[in-house]
Amino acid sequence: MEAAYFITGTDTDVGKTVATLALMHYAKQRGKTVIGMKPVAAGCELQNGQLKNQDALLLQAHASVQVDYELLNPYAYLAPVSPHIAGANNPVVLNKVLAHFNALTSLADIVLVEGAGGWYAPVNDQQSISDLAQCLALPVIMVVAIRLGCINHARLTYQAIHASGLICAGWIANCTDPTMLNRDENITTIKHALNTPLLGILPYQQPMDFDFLARQIQFS
Ligand SMILES: Nc1ncnc2c1ncn2[C@@H]1O[C@H](COP(=O)(O)OP(=O)(O)OP(=O)(O)O)[C@@H](O)[C@H]1O
Ligand SMILES: [Mg+2]
Repeated sequence: MEAAYFITGTDTDVGKTVATLALMHYAKQRGKTVIGMKPVAAGCELQNGQLKNQDALLLQAHASVQVDYELLNPYAYLAPVSPHIAGANNPVVLNKVLAHFNALTSLADIVLVEGAGGWYAPVNDQQSISDLAQCLALPVIMVVAIRLGCINHARLTYQAIHASGLICAGWIANCTDPTMLNRDENITTIKHALNTPLLGILPYQQPMDFDFLARQIQFS
């Protein structure tokens, strides 16, 4: 492995998976092999007797190498609720996540780890996504959904990443709302408020073309 990043967001549903897939295509466009990991997923369906999550399946499908589902998603909970509730009978153990992550690092040049919810979303009764990211000791990429309230959410999440002692490698502006007013001004305001590079602006797109979205990213 050459590099790995932890992908977080200002909330659930902000485009972490979309941004992770765009980053995966960005890596592939540069001739790198890449794997996506979704260590904790709540909201699964049974497929051939195994619980599987849509985000994890997408990350698996877009990887440049074949990876066993269980390796990239060790915690797959049925209920689409907070992992500390969905996983009450099988709570997240961070050392297991770390072991799976370490196994993935030998399989590709780049490993991208998508969080669940936002930075302080609980993964068990004692720990949050922030603890999981700290355990993996990864630089963090923050996805911001450009919608009303995003400036506050971006600044809060950015501060919280720093408070966890992790480096923010950059942020991605994801335009999830085609009706958003003053979108460019919001992006500019966040850009000035954060001391970390803007890695790309992902436009609203339906259906999505991940090779196109990858070309909106600039990551040195
Ligand atoms: N740039 C975009 N253009 C159009 N739709 C988008 C865009 N980004 C995200 N969406 C849509 O918004 C929804 C949320 O995106 P996504 O699943 O990537 O969020 P997430 O942060 O990964 O959510 P979760 O917390 O469940 O993991 C999805 O339905 C996705 O298709
Ligand atoms: Mg997701």
